[in-house]
Amino acid sequence: MRKLNIVILAAGKGTRMHSSKPKVLHAVGGKAILAHVIDCAKILNPHKIIVVYGYGGEIVREAFAHENITWVNQAAQLGTGHAVQQAAPFLDADADTLILLGDVPLVDVEACKKLIAQSDNTLAILSFNKPDPTGYGRIERADSGNVVAIVEHKDATEAQRNIIEVNTGIMAMPNKYLTQWLSQLTNNNAQAEYYLTDIVALAVVQGVKVVAEITADEWSVTGINSKVDLSAIERIYQSRIALKLLQQGVTLKDPARLDVRGALSCGRDVEIDVNCLFEGNVTLGDNVTIAANCVIKNAAIAAGTHIASFTHIDDTTIGENSRIGPFARLRPGTALAAETHIGNFVEIKNSQVDIGSKINHLSYVGDTTVGKHVNIGAGVITCNYDGANKFRTVIEDNVFVGSDTQLVAPITIGKNATIAAGSTITRDAPADQLTFCRAKDQKSIASWKRPTKII
Ligand code: UD1
Ligand code: CA
Repeated sequence: MRKLNIVILAAGKGTRMHSSKPKVLHAVGGKAILAHVIDCAKILNPHKIIVVYGYGGEIVREAFAHENITWVNQAAQLGTGHAVQQAAPFLDADADTLILLGDVPLVDVEACKKLIAQSDNTLAILSFNKPDPTGYGRIERADSGNVVAIVEHKDATEAQRNIIEVNTGIMAMPNKYLTQWLSQLTNNNAQAEYYLTDIVALAVVQGVKVVAEITADEWSVTGINSKVDLSAIERIYQSRIALKLLQQGVTLKDPARLDVRGALSCGRDVEIDVNCLFEGNVTLGDNVTIAANCVIKNAAIAAGTHIASFTHIDDTTIGENSRIGPFARLRPGTALAAETHIGNFVEIKNSQVDIGSKINHLSYVGDTTVGKHVNIGAGVITCNYDGANKFRTVIEDNVFVGSDTQLVAPITIGKNATIAAGSTITRDAPADQLTFCRAKDQKSIASWKRPTKII
């Protein structure tokens, strides 16, 4: 295999985004536009990835500090040819270069592989047919069909403007030619820019073969220039993920009402109802069902579990055959074992809940270890925070905590203990006993009358 360099052009300002954030840092599917392009580049296993940056430069670099990238600053944006000229000193003499655009997030790995395969002693361009080609560089072919030039829209004659085959900007060529061509570029054109596309005519003069590979997938070559483009690409990206899930056998009640911002992997017979959002890495086991309007982030949900609607899950693992929600909130650090039941308006944070335990109504459980087959009644609160520090609560196996109880941490409730409803428990409760702590003077006033409205 020949050595590969990949140059990603990302110096454009993105004025039409109307944002103070650099264009390539806006997200598609929860991931920066440029990150999609870099991920595509990485799959191609290049010797070097060079990113030409400009506007918002340092912020862009910082966002990818963890990646092995050669950064090249294009201080003034004098055109795509000028951008690649900035990268020239870093190109390996014995490599081929693939040019990618930093604002084309759906770039197709297979199309890139095809171009690279053809770039041996050849300039290989990715083109597409655009019925309204306004603004694009046109692929001009001789009668033989051979590509002879790319003519930018602003420089094109009326006849050239009728050409619908346009340049995507993605191309591959040997560096031994590229570096020569770059040194010959001029800016004698309508935009006074150094056009990368002028290398086509230079190749033709030199007798180097030029091929244009037409892609039928326009979205895979569509650049993002505005929030309108961003939203359109987002929907395409999402519809493609939904299609893949459907093809794998996942039931989606409405593929248009699913959003995946990360990686969602599903077992067999998974069902997902409408308006669910999955973020980060989410794994759903066999027969998992997710009802409408759930937000699930970085979670592993084991087989047979049902998540009822309006449930919010973040950084949590859930065992098999559990029932969660509706309106449950599972916060980071939560691990629920199999057959757990978490009901409505229950918030759990940084806690472990063992097999078969139930927390069904209106509770806050934080920094807590819950044993097996525990029943936590309605409105139970673990008071884990004294305003300065957090403390743990331990509830051992088979405990029954009555409704409206506060457990003031640090505290341990022993095995098989029962806590009476309405208690404020501040010291450890022994195993096997009933513990309660309530105001003891219950009174009834026989003569009492409800107040009436004063007219
Ligand atoms: C370019 C092509 C055109 C093609 C079109 C596809 C040239 C001269 N024209 O048009 O044939 O049909 O892309 O969208 O190459 N960039 C820099 N530095 C610069 C200028 C651009 O890094 O000085 C980057 C931009 O950030 C962007 C990419 O290059 O990612 C393309 O630039 P853009 O201005 O969108 O394309 P055009 O020059 O209009
Ligand atoms: Ca331009």
